[in-house]
Amino acid sequence: MMLLNSPSNPTGSVLKNSEIEELVGIAQKNKTTVVSDEVYHGIYYDTKTHSVLEHTDDAFVVDGFSKRFAMTGWRLGWVVCPPEHIDAINRLAQNLVICATNFVQDAGVVALSMSEDLVPKMREIYRKRRDFLVEEVEKLGVGMGYTPEGAYYLLIDVSELGSSFDISNRLLNEVGVATTPAPDFGESVENCLRLSYATGMEDLKEATKRIGKFIENL
Ligand SMILES: Cc1ncc(COP(=O)(O)O)c(C=O)c1O
Repeated sequence: MMLLNSPSNPTGSVLKNSEIEELVGIAQKNKTTVVSDEVYHGIYYDTKTHSVLEHTDDAFVVDGFSKRFAMTGWRLGWVVCPPEHIDAINRLAQNLVICATNFVQDAGVVALSMSEDLVPKMREIYRKRRDFLVEEVEKLGVGMGYTPEGAYYLLIDVSELGSSFDISNRLLNEVGVATTPAPDFGESVENCLRLSYATGMEDLKEATKRIGKFIENL
């Protein structure tokens, strides 16, 4: 199986359409099933998000309302798959979740009807938060010199400060700032923490101030 996730959690990177096309080609050549997690689609800043379905019908796309409609916790999502797999997916859904509750389905209809206006507005709000955070982490000396192109996460490098699990715990317990130790996402980011900017500007300002003081006191 080839698993794609663009925009990506935790880096916020976005695959170009030509890169997706190339990856789909590689999967097809190797008779590998493509599963594309497109849950951050719509949350992009420069490169528009593209779907694997622009290049093939022979793929599984998983998506949902959590991210671009800010409905995390509502547990509403969907799968697009080749028709021959619908029966198996139906059996799984029947036994795992049966169905989404009806009021959540109603909320989904409202979200879809408002998305044309709301998603671009949210995108601009996220963009401002992203730009603020990128600048702040560079000033704090933990920036990685990159600007996320989508989703709402930013990785920072804390290798000079200590182990990422330890620093994350200390940030939480000593200054009340919650981050995610990035080793949860794999060895290549073991010196990193993931910051989320799915929170208000005031909180981001306070958080970066506290992280700054924490680093000063180390
Ligand atoms: C890449 C990715 N896929 C899927 C999900 C799951 O979203 P949910 O279970 O809220 O639909 C998340 C949530 O953080 C995610 O980051």
